Amino acid sequence: MTVKVGIDKIGFYTPNLYLDMVDLAHARGADPAKYQVGIGQSKQAVIPPTQDVVTMAANAAAQILTPTIKTQIAMVLFGTESGIDNSKATAVYLAHLLELSPQTRAVELKQACYGATAGLQLAADYVRVHPQAKVLVIGADIARYGLRTAGEVTQGGGAVAMLVAANPQILELEATSSYHTADVMDFWRPTYRTEALVDGKYSTNVYLDFFAAVWADYQRQTKLTIADFAAFTFHLPFTKMGRKGLRQILPTATPEHQAQLTAAFEASQADNRDVGNLYTGSLYLSFLSLLRHGHLQAGQRIGFFSYGSGAEGEFFSGLIQPNYRQGFDDAGLTDLLANRRAVSVAEYEQLYNQQLSSDGQDMQLAVGQEQAPYYLAGRQHEQRV
Ligand code: CAA
Repeated sequence: MTVKVGIDKIGFYTPNLYLDMVDLAHARGADPAKYQVGIGQSKQAVIPPTQDVVTMAANAAAQILTPTIKTQIAMVLFGTESGIDNSKATAVYLAHLLELSPQTRAVELKQACYGATAGLQLAADYVRVHPQAKVLVIGADIARYGLRTAGEVTQGGGAVAMLVAANPQILELEATSSYHTADVMDFWRPTYRTEALVDGKYSTNVYLDFFAAVWADYQRQTKLTIADFAAFTFHLPFTKMGRKGLRQILPTATPEHQAQLTAAFEASQADNRDVGNLYTGSLYLSFLSLLRHGHLQAGQRIGFFSYGSGAEGEFFSGLIQPNYRQGFDDAGLTDLLANRRAVSVAEYEQLYNQQLSSDGQDMQLAVGQEQAPYYLAGRQHEQRV
């Protein structure tokens, strides 16, 4: 008998600061409706200099790890495009912070927003061969464009931590997936830059083309159709992007099913609308949002579209498990999002410019405002502390 493998637990962390998109629209001379409806964002996470992808990942992972689970983790696969070192993996820093066993493989995976999906699929394949093992998969990023650019409204940040295991509580991953790679310059960040370069409109078209390609190939491989799905979740750089993806396939569903899929999409974008882009973590925050706000039943099939600029797209699916609500801390996540403090545009711009400087100088950060268990205190001798 083949063992069921998939997502057993999910943790999520985003810092306790956010910027209201109405305030940003006023400051940039834009119509707030463009940001709220045209782009589909209400708030965006603001990342203080005391948080980076490693500390955010530790804050997310700590929610789902117990001393026993820590001893079962065989690998840490860290998807990010906001790495803090060109050589050493964020996963190694994370394994240390979480006090995992030295008998743990720890590597970083990069392909823009697709990295966590690569981690999830590699983890699932590993657990299929080693059913006693668990794998910690991370998607953590700080989505940074330039101040006053078209991409500014699509910033955000945070970390999703997923435990992949046999007989999972939340989602059984199905074995078939469709993926597609092509060398495309729609969004990239050369090593000398702290902000991404993007051909915005082109990137949205490539996203939709890749979705069309992998969805068609998935249907060809599996003989499944839209009628077999209770919900579709999307990589959400901004919520309108996923809405456009859904609209692309919706006409093939019955009117009643269209209404169900649309309601499920609303549930799956609710938390992303208040956090912004997480790059690698966005698809999985959207899935968590669906788990939290949707009305799911055991056995229902969920579709996942992952997209990483540059570009890689993948469509895969999974089946909801009976005790899925026990795999995440719903009340804790509601508190996390509800207890954030709104910052003014001036404070956001100040924090934006306060990220750790690239000159390597020693620095000490003001950590008085930090409430998270893991945070960054500064830099000494070119090492983060
Ligand atoms: N009220 C309501 N809607 C309004 C409006 C108003 N007053 N004014 C404009 N809009 C609507 C527009 O009609 C448009 O809607 P549609 O897309 O449905 O046509 C929408 O608001 C956006 O407006 P613009 O077309 O004027 O677009 P823009 O110049 O502001 O740029 C963007 C939008 C290209 C997405 C830009 O924000 C950007 O470059 N973002 C970063 C790139 C990105 O996220 N790409 C996504 C695919 S790549 C990816 O997914 C990887 C990743 O994470 C980066």
